[in-house]
Formats: sequence, C-alpha cells, structure tokens
Amino acid sequence: MRQKIKELLKKRKAIILAHNYQPPEIQEIADLCGDSLELSIRASMTDAEVILFCGVHFMAETASILSPDKTVLLPRKDAGCPMADMITPESLKARLDELPPMPVATYVNSPASVKALSTICCTSANAIEVVKSLDAKEVMMVPDRNLAKYTASHTTTKIHIWDGYCPIHDILTPKDVNKAKQAHPDAVFMAHPECRPEVLKLTGNILSTSGMIRFARESKSRSFIVGTEVGMLYPLKKANPDKNFYPASLSMECSDMKKITVEDVARSLEFMEGQIKVPEHIRRPALKAVQRMIDT
Ligand code: 13P
Ligand code: SF4
Repeated sequence: MRQKIKELLKKRKAIILAHNYQPPEIQEIADLCGDSLELSIRASMTDAEVILFCGVHFMAETASILSPDKTVLLPRKDAGCPMADMITPESLKARLDELPPMPVATYVNSPASVKALSTICCTSANAIEVVKSLDAKEVMMVPDRNLAKYTASHTTTKIHIWDGYCPIHDILTPKDVNKAKQAHPDAVFMAHPECRPEVLKLTGNILSTSGMIRFARESKSRSFIVGTEVGMLYPLKKANPDKNFYPASLSMECSDMKKITVEDVARSLEFMEGQIKVPEHIRRPALKAVQRMIDT
C-alpha cells in the first residue's frame, strides 16, 4: 500500500500533510506533520499540484483558501471538528450586531464562511500575539472559549468570548491531572490552550501541539504528562525516544482525527476523491484573515 501511495504521489504531483493527532501509520506516510500554523504555512508554500490533507475539514478548507489553484483532498469528508461546528456565519453576525464595532479574531478551527467575516485568524501557537497585533480595546474571539480566556489572561484587551469548546480538551479536569501527577511525580505537565482555565492554572507550559514537541526536546526533564489529544504521544516519543510521555487522561481521544486510514489515502489519490474547494466569494475575504495572521 505504501509503494502504491508513493507512485500515486508522483503521478499526481501531490504532497501529504498530516496533523500531529493523526494515527502513526498516517504520520509515517506524510511529507510534513505539524500543528495548524505550520500546516497552513506549508500549504501556502508548496509547489505540488495536489495537497492531500490528513486532518479535519477546516484544515483542508484552509489549504484551499491559501492555494486556490491546487486540488485539495480530504480523504474522509466526514472528518469534521465539533468545535468548528459550534459557530456559523449567521450566529456570528447576530452576536456582532448586539455589540459596538470591534475586530474579530477567529481560531483556525472554524468554518471558512466564519473566517470570511473575520479581521484575522489565529492558532493555538499565536493567539496572544495576534490579539496584541490588533492594538484594539475590545476584540471578539471565536469559537473557543478556553483559548479566548487564556488569551484574555495574557493581554489587557477586553475579550468577548464565544461559548464554543473542543469536547476532547474540555473534558480534562484538575482531578485527572493531579491523579497523573501522583502516578508520575517527576513528570512535567504540559497543556494545550484548548483546556479549561482551571487545568491551565496547573502549569506554566501551555503549548500548541508542535510547541510541545519543541519544549520536550529542549527540556532537561525526562518525563512529561501530556494534556492534549492522545495522538500526540506518538510524535512526542518519536522526536524524543529517550524520554517518557504519559497521557493526562486516556479519554482525550478525537474520533474525527482517527478516521483517515492508509487505504483512504490511496483511494483518494487514485480517484481524486474528497475534493474540498472553498467558493471564491468566501475564499477571498477568508484569505485576507488567514494571510494577516501569517504576516503577523
Ligand atoms: P494545534 O496543532 O494547532 O495545537 O491544534 C490543536 C487541535 O485541536 C487541532 O484540531
Ligand atoms: Fe476539533 Fe478538538 Fe478534534 Fe481538534 S481535537 S479536531 S479541536 S474536536
């Protein structure tokens, strides 16, 4: 199957991008693995004709926004993000109508149609910098309430919070973390900013997924408790084979991130199945918001 994929990649002039949460066998066949920010930037720079995205729907949309002349494939169209589905352009417009005019900073985990209404996008790796760059008194941040609260705690800007959340990260409690800390007293706890504020209070190491890989590599510590989706354990261990990584909770598994199989990748490349194309009237304003983030 891997040989077949290699041949198809050549034939289609395609590149495979995979998010850090993807299953190990998918990360192994990818040209690049990374967090949302790295993948968006890479998607904008590749000269491949086809981008096959192993991630969820909003990530493939972001690739399509940045690369309108390329074909973007999401091998499983049903791989979505429950947090991205917690906001629509209609619901955002209705909320904005109730407030004085202000910039909207939108987490990349959102539909393209919502990005199109936004001033700027952000990822878990750059949310604080992005909000600071706006130099505004008030900012609306959507859709993740936890990322918004985390950003608010690091800026003087008044943040208007949308009540969305990632069901995988929001499930983690201080009790889970304390249990893991008791089992591994020497381990350093790292958490993703999609976790609840009471969980983030338990660590100074609040990081995006690739930020966790870099932190673990540079840290003198040998053991880590990982407060994010359990798929992260694989790239962490791969990059740091002599260190130990423990999940903060085994319940933190995103079923959407586990949908794509190696067979789906081969089928998608062979039949050009699962094409994602953001329509031009949405793409153009969404590109402005994504590009402004990349340029920040
Ligand atoms: P990052 O890889 O940008 O930290 O995103 C985490 C996530 O939940 C993606 O779905
Ligand atoms: Fe969405 Fe959370 Fe799954 Fe990421 S981990 S795709 S934010 S549901």
